[in-house]
Amino acid sequence: MRPLLVEASSEGQGRSDLHRHRPTTGRPPFASLDLLPTLLAVQNRRASTSPTLDTVGAVIAVANQKGGVAKTTTVHSLSAGLAERGRRVLMVDLDPQASLTFSTGIDSDTLDGSVHDVMLGRTKAADVLIERNEISLLPSSIDLAGSEIHLLTKTGREFVLRRSLKALVDGYDYVFIDCAPSLGILTVNALTAADHVLIPFQTETLSHRAVGQLLETIDDVRHYTNDELVVLGGVATMYDSRTRLGKQVLADVEDIHGFAVLPPPIPRSVRVAEAPGKGKSVLEHARRSKSAEAYRELAGEIEKRT
Ligand SMILES: Nc1ncnc2c1ncn2[C@@H]1O[C@H](COP(=O)(O)OP(=O)(O)O)[C@@H](O)[C@H]1O
Ligand SMILES: [Mg+2]
Repeated sequence: MRPLLVEASSEGQGRSDLHRHRPTTGRPPFASLDLLPTLLAVQNRRASTSPTLDTVGAVIAVANQKGGVAKTTTVHSLSAGLAERGRRVLMVDLDPQASLTFSTGIDSDTLDGSVHDVMLGRTKAADVLIERNEISLLPSSIDLAGSEIHLLTKTGREFVLRRSLKALVDGYDYVFIDCAPSLGILTVNALTAADHVLIPFQTETLSHRAVGQLLETIDDVRHYTNDELVVLGGVATMYDSRTRLGKQVLADVEDIHGFAVLPPPIPRSVRVAEAPGKGKSVLEHARRSKSAEAYRELAGEIEKRT
């Protein structure tokens, strides 16, 4: 395993050639956020003020700005799979929709504190942690939508989550960050805090353009805030092996985007869709279902590759 949350050095800002086959749109980095002056200021200050994060394990952001591709399902299921393998796992719900929090059986309206309070610096992450089935959760609530506005006026806004997790991650083998369906500042915070990105996609509805935009954001993050960030791979979700389209998309992704799709694809199953309503992952809800077994196998694959 690589060291967790190693602070990016001021050298080696060159972009990885991982995505060299990918066409770029030529848009300036973070154009929509107009972040450049702040980023440069942060970059210049980094050597003296950045946290020195030094522990074991891996922080994995699960990101795709498209909604409904099974980001949340993948975070919950992989966390359960790794917990079954004896790993200590922390899940961070960084989506104002709080689906991950809901899927663990928690009503986010009743929480005393959430990741929103952490992002605002009102409370420590450790003080709002919840333990569920041997997994720790940093819960979310709809208030998190307000964090985006708060962060826009803050210097060093890309580093807030990274700094907040610093005091917490020690002792966890894996930290999964469930991203919102956007490429906004919350997702940039997740990518800045992460060692790896996992990209779930639904084979039948895959938009290559959207994946290209996500990879551009990842390149921007590598360039400005986290040059250690690695694309761990794609996860094919809601997969139907009977369709030719699914197989074709699987074959195309690596060629077009330059990252591997991790085995195995996760089959579509009503058992997965039922699980959040029960407050469980599919590994607990339908232990022997094909989807649960697929996520278990994928958890083993993640362990091998980190
Ligand atoms: N393998 C699967 N088979 C059937 N339904 C699934 C599967 N994976 C996810 N779903 C369902 O699809 C919906 C979207 O998944 P979710 O994990 O919330 O996506 P995202 O976090 O990307 O928005 C949810 O209702 C979820 O239960
Ligand atoms: Mg989600």
